[in-house]
This record gives sequence, structure tokens and C-alpha cells, in this order.
Amino acid sequence: MSDQAPLTALIVGSGGREHTLAQACVDSPLIGRILAAPGNPGMAQNCDCVSVAADDIDALVELAVSENVGFVIIGPEVPLCLGLVDRLIEKDILAYGPKADGARFEGSKTYTKELLLKYNIPTGAAANFDVAASAIEYLGTASYPIVVKADGLAAGKGVIIAEDHETATQTVTDMIDGGAFGDSGKSVLIEECLFGEETSIHVIVSGSDYVILPTSQDHKQAYEGDKGPNTGGMGAYSPADLIDDAMMRKIEAEIVKPSVDGIAAEGIDFRGTLFIGLMMTPTGPKVLEYNTRFGDPESQVLITRLETDPVEIMLAAAKGELGQLSVKVKDEYAMVVVLASAGYPGSYPKGETIHFPDTVGENEVIFHAGTKTADNGDIVTNGGRVLGVTALGATLGEASEKAYALCDKIDFKSKFLRRDIGAKELNRA
Ligand code: AMP
Ligand code: GLY
Repeated sequence: MSDQAPLTALIVGSGGREHTLAQACVDSPLIGRILAAPGNPGMAQNCDCVSVAADDIDALVELAVSENVGFVIIGPEVPLCLGLVDRLIEKDILAYGPKADGARFEGSKTYTKELLLKYNIPTGAAANFDVAASAIEYLGTASYPIVVKADGLAAGKGVIIAEDHETATQTVTDMIDGGAFGDSGKSVLIEECLFGEETSIHVIVSGSDYVILPTSQDHKQAYEGDKGPNTGGMGAYSPADLIDDAMMRKIEAEIVKPSVDGIAAEGIDFRGTLFIGLMMTPTGPKVLEYNTRFGDPESQVLITRLETDPVEIMLAAAKGELGQLSVKVKDEYAMVVVLASAGYPGSYPKGETIHFPDTVGENEVIFHAGTKTADNGDIVTNGGRVLGVTALGATLGEASEKAYALCDKIDFKSKFLRRDIGAKELNRA
């Protein structure tokens, strides 16, 4: 443990993930003052929220310099892809998150696919096209369903599973020639459709050192029974039994280590989260994508379960000292249930007053995501995912009971939640 004076931290972002990171800073002896840009009303309870957008790189660097920030923790992918960390390093400010060269793995699906294929990391076969006519010719001989992906960032919406040739042809035309997804869709990756259960793992990386975080399971679909449109995530729990110890060893040997080594071999000094999306196919786990930041809502359960100070881990990664750290995880299970606004991920109302319980139990936290403070001082809804209700328990069942009991004590008019977070695993037990 460092005996240095506590650092001023700056958290970039405003969602449930960023509130979780801010809470880790509140709980850490390594951090004194906490700034958030732009933050949210939940974060404002312990942080100075500054009205600077998470993608305003110039203003973020200026803020970090003028406020003498010692450590910047970046939540979302956009500032990472825009090179925020490169700019902070120029000013000698420590930051958690990859530089633009590492964030490109999230920013370009084709770039990631090239790395996966070059280093023999299991993934679906794919081809990249910038010209619609060539893509359409390729689709003529493809088998269906097939997956069409906009190469660049598309806020989680740029992946279409096309059931037939006509849909696939229309999708590539819309993306390459029609401007769907703007510049992000000018180049497309056409990928073999993989089948199986989907999961992910989070790895904290610092050059060639890495720490695999505990398993977690997101629930992407909007409705119970994994039905309905894909969302950013309606809830998560940790640990998740889809990946047992033997499978984790296989994933480490076939996917994690080759990924970390491959990225380093490309000359990229990656210091941040490598969040690997996986499809557990009948022939083994295959990589769907790399993200280069923590998942949301996965971070709510993963960071809450760390016994080792999460700030100490992130600081060690930023400094290139991760290899010297041993990371301990709590025995408890964690669950986060997202309270969303009805209509999400489509359109939904905003500005509804949220009623909170007067007290929250031990090992329970209400993380804010899409909230804001109204002129009259009420906290109101301001996004699709409004709150991340998180609880720890001795068993998954206990974590679930506590999280749902707390969900029932929170109210707003269009409150919408899935009642089956963790249900598959609870039913297996
Ligand atoms: P990505 O952003 O690449 O993870 O894709 C978003 C979602 O699309 C994933 O979470 C999967 O549900 C789905 N997906 C992506 N690639 C494939 C694939 N090759 N086969 C089947 N589903 C996929
Ligand atoms: N929960 C999925 C993500 O953060 O991308």
C-alpha cells in the first residue's frame, strides 16, 4: 500500500458503471477528492460533478490539469477511442484505460478480427468490405443466418443478424451506401453466425501482465426469458457458473493469454480493461468482440465483489505495476438489477420523480445511471437505464432476494425491470 498523500481522482462518464467506479474511489484510502465529468446525482453525493461531456477531450484534459488531478478513470469507450489517455499521458497524468491504439479494438471490429486471426484466437470466420457490390457478391455464396457488423462504434446497435440473403443485402447497402451508422458503417464485417450461450470475461491488463476478474453474466435482452430487443444490459450477477474452473483455464490458455500477448506483440502497451465477449459454441468458446472498458452493468457486480481495493488495482495497471499485485475477491455473490424506463431500448419518458427508500441495507447500493436533479430538487428519470440496484449475499439466492426487495422499495411511474436476473442459474442450483 502506498504511503503517498491521497490523489485527486477524476471519473469520466455518467452511468451506473461510473457511479460504481466513483464509489470505489470513495472507499479507497488512495483517493482524496473526487471529481466527475459529467457525473450524475448519485455520484454528486460524494463527488464534485463538473459539467464537461465525456467526449470533450480538450475540456477534460484542461479540467485534469487545472484541478491537479492525479488519477483519471475513464468509463466509456468514446473518450478512449478519441485518445484521451494519450493526451493525459502527455501531461504526466496517470489514467486507467487504454490509449487510442488499444481502444481501437473496440473502435474497429475489422481491426480486432485481424488480431484474432493472426494469433489463432478462436473466433468466427469473417470478411471485411468497403464496397457494397463486393459484399453483395460474397453474400451470394454465404450460408444463413449471417452477421453483418458496422466496423466502427455504433453504441451497441451496429450488429445485424440477417436470416436471409435479402436482409443481408439490404443491410450492407444501408450501411455502406445508405449512411446507416454514419462513418462507422462505411466499412462492414460479414461474419459467420455462432450459436451457443453468450457470456463475457473482464481482464485487467497492463502490458503483458493481466488479472482475470471473476465471472459475471449480463442479461442483454429487454424482456424476461431473454426475449425482446437487445439493450445495454438489464442486470448481471457474479460469479456465473456458465464458466467453471476447467473452462476458465481453457479460456485463459486459448483466449486471454494469446490476446494479451498478441496485443503486446503488436507494440501496443494496453493498460486498462479488456472485456471479451464470448460465444460458448459446441466446439468451444469463441470471441465475439473485444471491448476496452468495463461492462455496464457487469462492473456494478464485479467491482463490488473485489476484496482488494479496485483503485489500487487500476492504479497498478496504469503504472505498469500490475504484476506485483495479488487480487482478492469476496466470497459473496453479487447481483445488479437494472430499473429502466418502460419503452427502453426504444423511446421512453423522462423527467419522472423517483421515490427512494429512506435507508438502504448493508451490502446494498443503488447506483444511478439515467437520473438528473430537477429544478425543484427532485431526482428524476433521465435515461433508459435509470438505476442499478445492487446487493451482495452469501448465496446467489440471497443476493437476488435483497436486490429485488430493494427494487420494490423504489418507485417511478414508468419503472420497468426484468424479474429473472440470475433465474437460469438459480433454477440450475
Ligand atoms: P458485438 O458488438 O460484436 O458483440 O455484437 C453484438 C451482439 O451481436 C453480440 O452480443 C451477440 O449477441 C451478437 N453477435 C455478434 N457476433 C455474432 C456472431 N458471429 N454470431 C452470433 N451472434 C453474434
Ligand atoms: N453490458 C454490456 C456492455 O457494457 O457492453
